[in-house]
Amino acid sequence: MEYLLFKTTAFLLLGFCSCQNGLLLNGPLNGAVGGSVKFTLINPPSTQPDGIIWSFKGNREVTIVASFGESEDPTVDYVGRISLDKTTASLELRGLTLNDTGLYTVSITISGVESRGETSLTVFAKVSTPTIESSGGTLIAGNSSVTLTSGQGTIITRAWTKGGQPLSPSNRTTFSEENRTLSISPVESGDNGQYTCTVNNLVSSARETHTLEVNYGPHNVHISPLDVVTSGDRVSLECLADSVPTASLTWMFNGSETGSDSQLIIDKVDHSHAGKYTCTAWNSVTRLTASAEQMLHVTEDFSAHSSPLSGGAIAGIVIGSVAGAGVVAGVIAFGLKMAEVW
Ligand SMILES: *[C@@H]1O[C@H](CO)[C@@H](O)[C@H](O)[C@H]1NC(C)=O
Ligand SMILES: *[C@@H]1O[C@H](CO)[C@@H](O)[C@H](O)[C@H]1NC(C)=O
Ligand SMILES: *[C@@H]1O[C@H](CO)[C@@H](O)[C@H](O)[C@H]1NC(C)=O
Ligand SMILES: *[C@@H]1O[C@H](CO)[C@@H](O)[C@H](O)[C@H]1NC(C)=O
Ligand SMILES: *[C@@H]1O[C@H](CO)[C@@H](O)[C@H](O)[C@H]1NC(C)=O
Repeated sequence: MEYLLFKTTAFLLLGFCSCQNGLLLNGPLNGAVGGSVKFTLINPPSTQPDGIIWSFKGNREVTIVASFGESEDPTVDYVGRISLDKTTASLELRGLTLNDTGLYTVSITISGVESRGETSLTVFAKVSTPTIESSGGTLIAGNSSVTLTSGQGTIITRAWTKGGQPLSPSNRTTFSEENRTLSISPVESGDNGQYTCTVNNLVSSARETHTLEVNYGPHNVHISPLDVVTSGDRVSLECLADSVPTASLTWMFNGSETGSDSQLIIDKVDHSHAGKYTCTAWNSVTRLTASAEQMLHVTEDFSAHSSPLSGGAIAGIVIGSVAGAGVVAGVIAFGLKMAEVW
């Protein structure tokens, strides 16, 4: 009984002592190929050690550096890649390769007492910029599907955004192969935009953006509202259509073609211009057309008092007056001309 107790005490004591002697290192550490890491002692020695040995165990087993007093002796592989701090025993390792993945052990000796510590390092290749490939060809809203696929690599996470906003799965948008592919079926006009795939591993991040162009329309064809105009006015009708690519427009007046610009301009409108204007929009990719109509009514303006008077209004009044009242009309016309000069 006493013997057992003694053994337990001795074991606890030994355990306790080995803990006291143990060195705590930072880590586990991650590094990037070409990058650097620093192994540091969380409980550095209180006095400068007499000897420091760092060793590595991974795809090979090797002493990295052995230092006694002022001497420092790095192994061939590590010449120029390390910096040893002889006071704290910390070690910086630069120019990391995948071969540096493994276990790192430090052993320090102070007045003949040796203590050890251990940590691990994993070196990752940096992710390469993902290339995005689109399966789509020409995309037509409501009819086509598209799959965007980003490249392979030592990747831990992949995520897609559109115009900076995260994309989440929906009944048209699905992700597969751990987000390597994004499929949209069918595409809609609102899917137009910039899609970015961001890939990450523990040590790096890269992204690529792809512009998706979905052809749609024409939708919402309309003519700027303007139904009653006064004889002599300058009239400008404008046709607008929501369409990708831009729709080609055709104007018809009472059923005959009269123009193909977005604006239809009549410098001096008269009764012969009254009637039905139709604007037809055609999308050469979706091969769809849509149109809008506008009735134009032209009225005479006899209220010569409205100001400012346009040249057209004056002409209208003069013609109307001459037909009615002879000489008096001439005077009125003269008066109006004077008003215009002033
Ligand atoms: C890694 O180690 C292997 C052999 O174990 C060697 O062939 C290769 O060249 C090393 N790579 C680097 C980057 O040191
Ligand atoms: C896939 O994307 C979703 C949402 O963007 C994200 O929550 C998830 O972690 C990603 N999965 C992988 C394996 O990258
Ligand atoms: C997809 O979801 C929308 C609402 O978000 C719903 O109106 C539509 O019917 C759904 N379509 C299918 C094919 O499930
Ligand atoms: C155009 O049609 C309207 C009726 O919609 C008619 O009153 C007008 O005289 C027509 N104009 C021409 C120039 O054909
Ligand atoms: C959509 O697809 C169907 C069948 O493939 C075709 O008949 C229709 O014209 C297409 N619509 C558009 C807008 O391309």
